[in-house]
Amino acid sequence: MAEPVTPPFLAACRREPTPYTPIWIMRQAGRYLPEYRELRAKVDFVEMTRSPELAAEVTLQPLRRYELDAAILFSDIMTPLQGMGIALDFEPGPVVRNPIRTRQQIEALPQLQPEQDVPFVLETIRLVRANAPRGVPLIGFAGAPFTLLCYLVCGRPSKEFGPARAFLYAQPQDAELLLDRLADAMAAYLRSQAEAGAQALMLFESWAGLLAPREFRQFALRAARRTAAALRPLGVPLIYYANQAAALLEEIAGLDVDVVGVDWRTPLGRVRRCLGPGKAVQGNLDPAALFAAPEDLKRHVDVVLAEAGPDPGHIFNLGHGIWQETDPDAVARLVDYVHERTARRTG
Ligand code: CP3
Repeated sequence: MAEPVTPPFLAACRREPTPYTPIWIMRQAGRYLPEYRELRAKVDFVEMTRSPELAAEVTLQPLRRYELDAAILFSDIMTPLQGMGIALDFEPGPVVRNPIRTRQQIEALPQLQPEQDVPFVLETIRLVRANAPRGVPLIGFAGAPFTLLCYLVCGRPSKEFGPARAFLYAQPQDAELLLDRLADAMAAYLRSQAEAGAQALMLFESWAGLLAPREFRQFALRAARRTAAALRPLGVPLIYYANQAAALLEEIAGLDVDVVGVDWRTPLGRVRRCLGPGKAVQGNLDPAALFAAPEDLKRHVDVVLAEAGPDPGHIFNLGHGIWQETDPDAVARLVDYVHERTARRTG
């Protein structure tokens, strides 16, 4: 019998050679897809995340349309916090009813017990694994502790997250305590996702770019390291996505993860040089490039591929989530072109 073939996405996470460059798209399950909007018109977002059948269906929708190389769990970075009893609404970004700002509030946060607090996430993972087409692997995810802190302290989406940054300076010890609590909760959450069947685990540090290197090290990186260290023994590939982190790559090079995802502002060649040969990279086409004419889109993809270079360990993705206004046909052209352009003769 033939050896089971490692899916290209998982091989690339481990910097092993692949028959072509694998691709998936941040926010691939979402509002740019008419089939998502159709479901969403009938069901509220939170209810969707809490119904395993619906969440699994939405996870699989993009895989039916496109030859994507990975699925990502349909959920939200705030879902486990809701499970910990934090009241919030999606408008559509997360709005926390009582922002967390005092020592007392932090100490009162319960530890997350995934099987009890978010059983629907684990059930969604089992359903996706049972129904994924073409043996496509599933990525589980969580918000990185600092990015969660931004929403918890500020209370709502923001460009600058002023109150969250002020909190780091005004109450550094409280900030570290909150980050430790979140790091442990997300470690428990991601471990339970892996046990339920997630084949890679991703931490979203969407607001890394708010911090200078020193504060990034003291707060965000220290907490992410705590989560990553707890997950290492599982042997599941870990991906750390850092948005607007061009000035933080030296710090990130010291984080023990398999893959670093970056936004489009830093060319991947530079990212590879900063991170060294021990990490795979994920990214990093500007989501806006999907609005280019078809022939132009190919040239923009070529630039990303050339920057990533010939060495193994590149997972193609956008530099941040796909925009709601994107033409679904542009996504098909992107996925097919990346596969065609990178197909390597093997054997
Ligand atoms: O396809 C996928 O990527 C899986 C699902 C997913 C969602 N949120 C669904 C969602 C993932 C991985 C996330 C992560 C997430 N959520 C992040 C990190 C990634 C990033 O984009 O930086 C962040 C910062 C959030 C917080 C959040 N949740 C915002 C800012 C919003 C606003 C709307 C939006 O789409 O950006 C949400 C709501 C949300 N999460 C929606 C979806 C599909 C829209 C809800 C709706 O249908 O109304």
